[in-house]
Amino acid sequence: MPDRTLDLDAIRSEFPLLERRVHEQPLIYLDNAATTPRPRPVLDAVAGFETNFTANVHRAVHELSAEATDAYEGARKAVATFINASRHEEIVWTRGTTEAINLFANSWGGSNLSEGDEILLTVMEHHANIVPWQLLQERLGLVLNVVPVADDGTIGLDAFLEHMTDRTKLAAVTWTSNVLGTINDVAAICSAARERGITTLLDAAQAVPHGPVDVQAIGCDAIAFSGHKMYGPTGIGCLWARHELLESMPPWQGGGDMIEKVTFERTTYNDVPWKFEAGTPNISGAIGLGAATTWLRSLGMDAVSAHEQHLLLHALKLLRGMDRVRIIGDAPHRAAVVSFLVDGIHPHDLGTFLDRHGVAIRTGHHCAWPLMDRFGVPATARISMGLYNTTEELDEFADRLVRVIDVFG
Ligand code: ALA
Repeated sequence: MPDRTLDLDAIRSEFPLLERRVHEQPLIYLDNAATTPRPRPVLDAVAGFETNFTANVHRAVHELSAEATDAYEGARKAVATFINASRHEEIVWTRGTTEAINLFANSWGGSNLSEGDEILLTVMEHHANIVPWQLLQERLGLVLNVVPVADDGTIGLDAFLEHMTDRTKLAAVTWTSNVLGTINDVAAICSAARERGITTLLDAAQAVPHGPVDVQAIGCDAIAFSGHKMYGPTGIGCLWARHELLESMPPWQGGGDMIEKVTFERTTYNDVPWKFEAGTPNISGAIGLGAATTWLRSLGMDAVSAHEQHLLLHALKLLRGMDRVRIIGDAPHRAAVVSFLVDGIHPHDLGTFLDRHGVAIRTGHHCAWPLMDRFGVPATARISMGLYNTTEELDEFADRLVRVIDVFG
C-alpha cells in the first residue's frame, strides 16, 4: 500500500498545530482518537461565522441571521452527504457522541422500552454507550445483555446472535473500538438485528473520521458521532437516525426553536430534526463540522482509509519488534489505534516521559473500564493515528519509546 495516496505535505501544511514544538521537541501527535487537530478550512469556517456574520439562526429577518441560517443548514446538508443520509433532516445536531446517545436513550428508549426489555451492548463499549443505558435501566427495569470480547479483541457474529433474544429491543454497539481498534462487522450485526425486529444504534465516533460511511448501505437505524474526532470543532456532533424513527420519537429537551406553537394549555413541536434542537445551537461548531466533512470529501475517504491502514501496519511492525511490549487486541479488521503495555513500566509513566520527548499519546482506561477489566489491566498506553500522520513520525515515536524504556531499565 503506498504511503502517499494523500498529498501529506500539502495536508500537513493545513494544520497550524503541527508547527508547534512541545518541550522544545517537534510535536508528534498520536492521540487522534481523543481529538484531532483542526485544519485551516475548519478554522476559517468558524472564524468566518464569528467574524463576519455572527447572528442567531432561524429567528430573525435580518441579513446576518439569514446568512448564519444558510451556513448552519448548509453544514447539515454537508454532513448528510458525508454519511450518505437519504435526507438532511435526518441529521440532529448534538454536543457530540455522548449527547447523541443520551438523546436516543431518553427519547427513543424512554418511549419504546419497558420493564424486562433487553438492550444488547458489548464489553468494548465506551462509557458513553454504557452509562446512558444504565440510567435508563434504573428508571425502567431493563436488562443489559453484554456480548463478550474474545482474547484477540474481536466479537464474532455468532456471539452477537447468541445474545439476541425475544426480549432484545435495541442493539447499541460500537462500530470501532477506541481501545483495541477492532472494527465490528456492523452491516452483518444490523442485518441480523433487523431480521429479529431489533433497533440498532451505532457508536460511530471512531469510525466516521477514518473511512467512507454509508448509513443506508449499513442498514442501521441510528448512529452517533463527534465533530472533534473528525477534524471539526469540539462541542458539536450528530445523531443520525432514519427519518421515520426520528418522526416517531418525542422531543428530549424543551425550549426555543424546538416548538411549533406554545400556549399554557398545549405546546406543539417543530418538525424533525429541529424538534430535538432546543435553545440556541452551537452555530459555529456546526459550520466548522460541515467544513470538516467538505474537506475530508475533497481528500477522498478511501484514500484516508488506505493511508491510515498503511500507518497501522507500520506501527504494529515497530511495536511487535520491541522487547517487553505487549499489544492488547489483534483483530484482523481494525482501525489505526494500538493499545499496548510495556512490561515493568506503568502506562502513565510512559505517557509522561514520551510527552517530554514531544510525543502525545493517551494513557489510562480510555473511558472503557469494562474492557480494561476484561483484559485484566488497569490502563494501557495508546497511539491513535490520523490522516496527516506519517511513517517517519511513527519511526520517531518508536525511537523515542525505546529511549524511554531504556531510562526505566
Ligand atoms: N473517547 C476518547 C478517547 O478514546 C476521549 O480518547
